[in-house]
Amino acid sequence: MKPIQVGLLGAGTVGSGTFKVLLRNQEEIKRRAGRGIEITMVADLDTARAREVAGEGVKVVSDARAIIANPDIDIVIELIGGYGIARQLVLEAIAAGKHVVTANKALLAVHGTEIFAAAHAKGVMVAFEAAVAGGIPIIKALREGLTANSIQWLAGIINGTTNFILSEMRDKGLDFATVLKEAQRLGYAEADPTFDIEGVDAGHKVTLMSAIAFGIPVQFDKAHIEGITKLAAQDIKYAEQLGYRIKLLGITKRTAQGIELRVHPSLVPSKRLLANVEGAMNAVVVHGDAVGTTLYYGKGAGSEPTASAVIADLVDITRLHTADAAHRVPHLAFHPDAMSDLKVLPMAEVVTSYYLRLRVADQAGVLAKVTGLLATAGISIDAVLQREADEVGGEGSTQTDLIILTHDAREGTVNDVLAELQALPTVLQPIVRIRKEELS
Ligand code: HSE
Repeated sequence: MKPIQVGLLGAGTVGSGTFKVLLRNQEEIKRRAGRGIEITMVADLDTARAREVAGEGVKVVSDARAIIANPDIDIVIELIGGYGIARQLVLEAIAAGKHVVTANKALLAVHGTEIFAAAHAKGVMVAFEAAVAGGIPIIKALREGLTANSIQWLAGIINGTTNFILSEMRDKGLDFATVLKEAQRLGYAEADPTFDIEGVDAGHKVTLMSAIAFGIPVQFDKAHIEGITKLAAQDIKYAEQLGYRIKLLGITKRTAQGIELRVHPSLVPSKRLLANVEGAMNAVVVHGDAVGTTLYYGKGAGSEPTASAVIADLVDITRLHTADAAHRVPHLAFHPDAMSDLKVLPMAEVVTSYYLRLRVADQAGVLAKVTGLLATAGISIDAVLQREADEVGGEGSTQTDLIILTHDAREGTVNDVLAELQALPTVLQPIVRIRKEELS
């Protein structure tokens, strides 16, 4: 059978890796897919770069629409990124009857409903393994490997930039701004790192995993998102003393009230495998009712790791290309007419446990007042750590840090009691609140 023809939009780092891996492993890939897979056209505004990436024998164009218009192309790989022109081109490729492979998490998390509906109507596939956790086959695991399970929750380190920064802050005791600069110098963080450090990139990825895990529409606008920019080295140190590490987690959970969908820094017990995922690595823990807890670990970015996911999608599409559309694996794991309308919970209704740090006046009755207000709100304390005033504020200091770990509590209730605590004259600085996940 003649090779399936693929057009590539965007000849950057991942595109280059895709060419290299396809070429290097072409025989094995062909044996798996049942026929060869060839990228025959590449579109990039920088045609010189595209020519360098593609090598000889591949048609290079500056206009992506020339690929979409080519009837010989069956699959379009979108590696442009962003919500703008990428959305337009993906919709046009679908309308032209092409299958689409994309690494664009932002596009699918925000416009997924529109894109999947268009693909369903046209009977084409939209595959996005590369959009979540780079080379880790987490989409495949959630959509197919765990298909017997009622998935209860998943939690992941799904942004390498922030995990690198947090690892460095802990290892070296440095503050966020210093480590960010170093990460940019080493190429771990982009010149504009906003999407990574503010948790937006992780939010896109957890939104996609949540949809597949629970059979709900992609709803990035309902996700609660906090990044790591306000994290202090001090809290990383206190957490460590209490047996925890702080990680930026993407979390989604099924509860009786609805779906939790959130990204924020979290304390994780140091003994958990997830707490020991260091540097730019990614990992996702998934808990299913039948299988129990499973862990997926690997490189969440990079040229060949991401190409590994792109090519896995190319192989899947090549295998299913001639199958009846109704017999293919649904885009979001559940059939479109069997999606659930479980609501995504507002953050105030989320139940979790908390790390609180209060800078207080070191005087009689302060601890009693603080614990009294927590008790009145029905918030149970799990552990308390109080440092000597001298250690916190220098010799003769009259202030100290009071660190409290709570048991599970409703976020809305915690917000109310934090406002009361903050108003106490003996609470001297803004209270630090970091959520805590036992992941047991
Ligand atoms: N910027 C992402 C990260 C990789 O740091 O993990 C692409 O999503």
